[in-house]
Amino acid sequence: MTAIDTKLEDQLLLEREIWAKGPPHALFKDLRQGCPVHWTREISEFPEEGGFWSVTSADDIHKVSRDWRTFSSELGGVTVISTIFPLELTRAMFIGMDPPKHDRVKALFQAGFTPKRIAAHEHAIREIVLKTLDGLEGRASCDLVNDVAQPVVSRVIGSFMGIPEEDDATWARLMNSTLGAGDPDLNPAGVESVMEKEIPEIFERCGRMIAQRREHPTDDLTSVLVHAEVDGQKLEEHEIVMGFFLLVAAGNDSTKATYCSGMRALMENPDQRQLLLEDPSLVPAAVEESLRMFPAFAHFRRTATKDTELGGRQIKEGERVVMWYVSSNRDESRFEDPDCFDVRRTTEHQAFGAGGRHFCLGTALARLELRILFEETLKRFPKMEIIGEPLTVESAFINQLKTLPVRLTP
Ligand code: HEM
Repeated sequence: MTAIDTKLEDQLLLEREIWAKGPPHALFKDLRQGCPVHWTREISEFPEEGGFWSVTSADDIHKVSRDWRTFSSELGGVTVISTIFPLELTRAMFIGMDPPKHDRVKALFQAGFTPKRIAAHEHAIREIVLKTLDGLEGRASCDLVNDVAQPVVSRVIGSFMGIPEEDDATWARLMNSTLGAGDPDLNPAGVESVMEKEIPEIFERCGRMIAQRREHPTDDLTSVLVHAEVDGQKLEEHEIVMGFFLLVAAGNDSTKATYCSGMRALMENPDQRQLLLEDPSLVPAAVEESLRMFPAFAHFRRTATKDTELGGRQIKEGERVVMWYVSSNRDESRFEDPDCFDVRRTTEHQAFGAGGRHFCLGTALARLELRILFEETLKRFPKMEIIGEPLTVESAFINQLKTLPVRLTP
């Protein structure tokens, strides 16, 4: 057993308590340098799941991400723990499909998510951000996660999906408790409640929206799902619901996560914030640096379809292969001084995935939303300060803060 294996056994890479303090960056650094494709033993909370391969370097993740024939999203699901969410539901979302079906379902949405089409939403998104910031009028402090990020991201994706504004908070609760299933604040009822309570509620609520769209088609993305034909066939009801879930969940959690972690980094690095205040044209670069340092998804997972080799290790058919973006985005072979938040970097990161078929559909929307959020928050509250300990979600999947208490003006 190598020194790294022993250390990992002690630290248990997936323990929620470890992630509650933020991603274990020191451990990932050891892995990148000593054993970049590492067999990680079982997770104590889910012993029945067995071990998995932890892939931690940017080059190896690039190889896995681009080779869907060897590394499948459909075979075993896309997160390391597969017992919370039935495989059948993951496979109903195109994130959990392999080509050719993946490509055909994704194509239904791609035209609407190009940078040009998304740019047309700039005015509407800025209005949502400004209205939310106006709501803080007269307040000395707030929680950036729940008072700013959550309402903005919910309304933006809500408007794409045709969700009525009064339902935003309900959908936010359902997404947070499903994706953050193990976190006692986001999901106080515990992981079992996801299948018992949240998923049935999602099906029930979404079922009503689907029935309305069948009667009265609209121009929102829920209607696209309801009326779509793939290979001459309409999607089944559970595929429509899960397609809806994928878009709402992805649109909700990730952008919120990046905005809050990025704002925290700017408050903790006032020299970097000063650069943006003096030259707002640097905001898009600050967005990229926030995506790099704090990728909203710590990992995605694949399953080997055949025996293969990666980074000198022999991977067997059926084994789980986990791409740790929280690690690859700090790979010292790509990024100089990777733990340093530097808005002047230009190297490409892997927060949206490492290329290939499953590369994020929402990159243009996320970048636009984040740019506007940063621009308007910095303009309105240039001296915002952290006034309490930010708390991190206890999850090895969603890498995000659950609270970020700030003083708005000194
Ligand atoms: C900061 C923001 C975001 C980050 C960091 C992010 C990250 C990612 C990553 C890493 C994947 C790859 C999954 C895999 O390899 O299996 C992905 C896929 C995806 N993302 Fe995003 N995402 C963000 C925002 C969004 C938004 C706003 C949407 C809008 C609806 C979205 C929709 C999707 C969808 C539908 C997929 C599945 C693509 C496929 O399987 O082909 N994402 N995202």
